[in-house]
Amino acid sequence: MSDVDRAAIGAAVRQLLAGSLGYLNAAALRVAVRARVADSLADGPLPVERIAELGGVDPGHLRRVLRFLATREVFREDEDGNFHLTTAAGLLRADSPIPLQSLILLFTDQTYWVPAGRLDDTVRKGVTVFDEIFGAQFFDYLATDEERQTLFSDAMACMSLTETGGVVQSYDFPEKGTVVDVGGGLGGLLYAVLSANPGLQGILFDREPVLRRHRLADPALDGRWETVAGDFYAGLPADADLYLIKRILHDKSDADCVRLLRSCRRSMAADGRVLIIDPLVPADGDYSPSIKLSDVLMMAVFEGKERTADELGALLGEADLAVSRIIPTPTTLTIVEAAPR
Ligand SMILES: C[S@@+](CC[C@H](N)C(=O)[O-])C[C@H]1O[C@@H](n2cnc3c(N)ncnc32)[C@H](O)[C@@H]1O
Repeated sequence: MSDVDRAAIGAAVRQLLAGSLGYLNAAALRVAVRARVADSLADGPLPVERIAELGGVDPGHLRRVLRFLATREVFREDEDGNFHLTTAAGLLRADSPIPLQSLILLFTDQTYWVPAGRLDDTVRKGVTVFDEIFGAQFFDYLATDEERQTLFSDAMACMSLTETGGVVQSYDFPEKGTVVDVGGGLGGLLYAVLSANPGLQGILFDREPVLRRHRLADPALDGRWETVAGDFYAGLPADADLYLIKRILHDKSDADCVRLLRSCRRSMAADGRVLIIDPLVPADGDYSPSIKLSDVLMMAVFEGKERTADELGALLGEADLAVSRIIPTPTTLTIVEAAPR
């Protein structure tokens, strides 16, 4: 074996072994967020003893976790043993413009972590083991756990922060009419749509406990929105011009997608439109690592998948809808516009 082959094999061994311990990366990030390390460093570097005191954790153990995270450029330790923020660590601060704390706590929560750890069972059975573990499907389980429901809604709102601007600027919204954000969570997308389109009215549709914490209350939007609580499979506000379905279908089985699309079809105005806003898998199968990662997540925790335009078109067809336009956005999301057939 040549030196080049030996070096390549050595690198591959390290890659595979580090990959198979990747869960420790997630666990260490969770420690940093829960101990509020980034917030403690907001005013400058500190020794680990002080960070641990502020976070209520053991200093010796925290030092080892932070040294590991520093190998990933999350935090930096100087020669005096003080820890500093890095660009990545700054995003873990509560006052960061993109506060990733809630997303990291969600992604490393048991509801994600435990089914992910049983991905082998999911792949063997061809179905998520989430309900086997938690006794219900994801959203029904959330409804029984207020703390996790809050965490999930906050995390989705955080994800939305980086997406809504790109969605709003990419689609030509009508000048007048009513937009329903179906499963709109805390209302980040609807807020952005209404702010950018002063002639539109909006309805935020979601489950009641989610709507209680909505973020639409802004005097600038007074009189232009309402919230409606319900089950989106059972029925939606009638006769609206646009139904937004963002980050909903990709966590659903084909059967549930059709149920939801039929619910939109039953409710929409004759010339209404549905906008499916999700990652879109290109037909040639050449898509980004982040969409492939999301696809596996959708498989492990939910009964969903990332889909191609043809796959979405087939589901729309079953609901008597058809793709009218496909509009890319500057984010990982694509807008698939659908109209009655
Ligand atoms: C993945 S989140 C997406 C939230 C938002 N559209 C976004 O992009 O940030 C799914 C949302 O659908 C809501 N949801 C789930 N099942 C629902 C149902 N059967 N009826 C109404 N809303 C539901 C959840 O409460 C949650 O807010």
